[in-house]
Amino acid sequence: MDKKVKDLLNEQIMKEFYSAYLYLDMANYYGDEGLEGFQNWFEIQAQEERDHAMLMRTYLMNNDESVTLLPIEAPAENYTSFDAPLKKTLEHEKTVTASIHTIFAAASAVQDYRAMEFLNWFVKEQAEEEKNASDLIKKFGLFGTDAKGLYQLDQELKARVYAAPSLTLD
Ligand code: FEO
Repeated sequence: MDKKVKDLLNEQIMKEFYSAYLYLDMANYYGDEGLEGFQNWFEIQAQEERDHAMLMRTYLMNNDESVTLLPIEAPAENYTSFDAPLKKTLEHEKTVTASIHTIFAAASAVQDYRAMEFLNWFVKEQAEEEKNASDLIKKFGLFGTDAKGLYQLDQELKARVYAAPSLTLD
């Protein structure tokens, strides 16, 4: 595999684990505030990020590349409003999208069709991740500022269940 593509994928494993950390930190914040539905939503989000990291790890291993686990930074955010983590999520997902696009471009430059095919799943996944975050911000804007609305929204988010990624690697 091209070294640049390999290194970018290896680094992306860390970025996905960092995303899991970031969302777990948000889940902690909502848990502290008594919003169990938001907590649940972000715990599942964190699980999905771990899945992303593991898929990239498996992809590298399946292609005979060794994986180097890089340090994961601690999330530094201090949330002071219920919608702050939601806005941070959208902002963060946009940076992840840019990062995935960079790897795709590097794979494309060396005609690594296998990596492009693999990364295509993540390109689509990122569109979904951004939409989910954006939808949540809109919903919060509509209902979250009223106590009854916030309660209902929290109940709705409590119903989210984890689903394994649609992409599987042997
Ligand atoms: Fe793995 Fe939320 O991007």
